[in-house]
Amino acid sequence: MHIILMGPPGAGKGTQAALLAEQEQIPHISTGDIFRANMGQGTPLGKLAKQYVDAGKFVPDDVTNAMVKDRLAQDDCKKGFILDGYPRTADQAQALAGMLADLSLSLDGVVKIDVPDPLLVERAEGRRVCRNCGATYHVKFNPPAVPGVCDKCGGELYQRSDDTAEKLQVRLTEYHQQTAPVLEYYQSKGLVKTVDGDQPMASVTAAIKKAVAKV
Ligand code: AP5
Ligand code: ZN
Repeated sequence: MHIILMGPPGAGKGTQAALLAEQEQIPHISTGDIFRANMGQGTPLGKLAKQYVDAGKFVPDDVTNAMVKDRLAQDDCKKGFILDGYPRTADQAQALAGMLADLSLSLDGVVKIDVPDPLLVERAEGRRVCRNCGATYHVKFNPPAVPGVCDKCGGELYQRSDDTAEKLQVRLTEYHQQTAPVLEYYQSKGLVKTVDGDQPMASVTAAIKKAVAKV
């Protein structure tokens, strides 16, 4: 399974990618997670990304493309991958096409997880992320057994700096302006499958698997 998950901020890309990666035993590649891990460690990439991520803006294409190129070249991507949050600009889509051609890999599908904008505010404001392992929770829709503590590793849960109603509006504007052309590009290639993201998490997973199943 070589797929891309697309959709607005908070649609459930990360949640679904994590579930699919575990079930299919393939890597989950989230550009957002890689930026946050680097920010947490204070690396040069993290310092550069922080100013954009904190503002809800996209990190420059050249930085993002180079990072994904390195990751896709690793051996574990040959049997499959789930790209989460990349590509999200026309330039990134073009760069990805070149990377896949170089690696002799092709895409099985681009899944658009559809969730109406008004529902995204509650999803973002209630999201909590593990500082240690990156697992995602929601205070209402997917709460941990003990508030503030990760079920998987016991790590501390925190709220992302960009998960405020105000920052979400900036991220949504970026999404509608810059990522809509990427979806159109994949649509013209007949690759886009749209899945309803406003249903229980397990139902969304089943719908994605059905949408990208090879006939
Ligand atoms: P990134 O981390 O990719 O953020 P995003 O695209 O805004 O997406 P989110 O992580 O907010 O949402 P998601 O769709 O993964 O939802 P989740 O599963 O967590 O990127 C962050 C930043 O990094 C960007 O703003 C940018 O600065 C930078 N960046 C990243 N990629 C880049 C790129 N390619 N180019 C340039 N810059 C880039 O779910 C949300 C919440 O809802 C959770 O709490 C979850 O538990 C809950 N939930 C999930 N599914 C359901 C459901 N079915 N029902 C109820 N609740 C649900
Ligand atoms: Zn954890």
